[in-house]
Amino acid sequence: MTSELDSLRRHSLVVADTGDIEAVARWKPQDATTNPSLLLTSAQDPRFRHLVDNAIREARGDTAAAMDGLFVHFGREILKHVAGRVSTEVDARLSFDIAGSIARARRLIALYERHGVGRERVLIKLASTWEGVRAAEQLEREGIHCNMTLLFSFAQAVACAEAGVTLISPFVGRIYDWYRAARKVDDIPVDDDPGVASVARIYAYYKKHGYKTQVMGASFRKTEQILALAGCDLLTIAPDLLEKLAKAPGPVERQLSMELALRTGGEKIAMDEKTFRWMHNEDPMATDKLADGIRRFDADARKLERLIISLAAATPAAA
Ligand code: E4P
Repeated sequence: MTSELDSLRRHSLVVADTGDIEAVARWKPQDATTNPSLLLTSAQDPRFRHLVDNAIREARGDTAAAMDGLFVHFGREILKHVAGRVSTEVDARLSFDIAGSIARARRLIALYERHGVGRERVLIKLASTWEGVRAAEQLEREGIHCNMTLLFSFAQAVACAEAGVTLISPFVGRIYDWYRAARKVDDIPVDDDPGVASVARIYAYYKKHGYKTQVMGASFRKTEQILALAGCDLLTIAPDLLEKLAKAPGPVERQLSMELALRTGGEKIAMDEKTFRWMHNEDPMATDKLADGIRRFDADARKLERLIISLAAATPAAA
């Protein structure tokens, strides 16, 4: 029997959205994505405690270095189970700091390279703020490939494509969450789901205008949202939803295509900083969710820092 997951794989590259290394090994995705919240969960999991201890030991009392080390140790383990790339996120506190984001990304890549992992196997995740996009533009020139996260508005998508970034992660579920709360409903059917519509619109615009930036739908709440985006370049999916897709019988029909994009992709938009800020600000969902997303990733990174500090007190330093 062909499952929905097998069938989906014919239309889109399937990516695992998790810091759980055993889940990555089980699902054998093309790529994997992490974020500070996912790594906070994994860092507290006894199965992966050795990775946290190694990062702390190597950092010799430097908490920032231990954070970088932890991200890279998880990334390296994940890479043992995927043929493609792992996404590692830059500190959300740098979301409005171009130079700081560039420096942190270079540091992460240097650490990966010191451990024998080439930059072609890593995507540096940055928040899709104006400053994040400018940082990514510079990093791409250095051969450091970027995955633009916390992407909610069309303005963010246009700016990322114009900057020539490798990949964007437009969020579906968090848009759905916002509209569900705004409309005071328990569910929004997939054909009326603003999160799904956002990714479909971005995909069509990119393909119609020949942008090379890949579109990876992210942040899913239910399998229907994933299936409605079959054909998107990549889809990053949490293990519980991968499991549901694997158990459901296929086939899955392609929904996004070049043919449809040429008809629906819309007119090209000229983007500069003023236009970006105006267009993004015109979208209350996107302004709320970008700000909230930065706060949430920052809060989880701070929890991770506190965990590292408390464990460091009990971990012997490297000889
Ligand atoms: C992936 O890159 C994102 O970080 C992830 O899909 C966010 O998902 P969430 O909205 O379920 O936290």
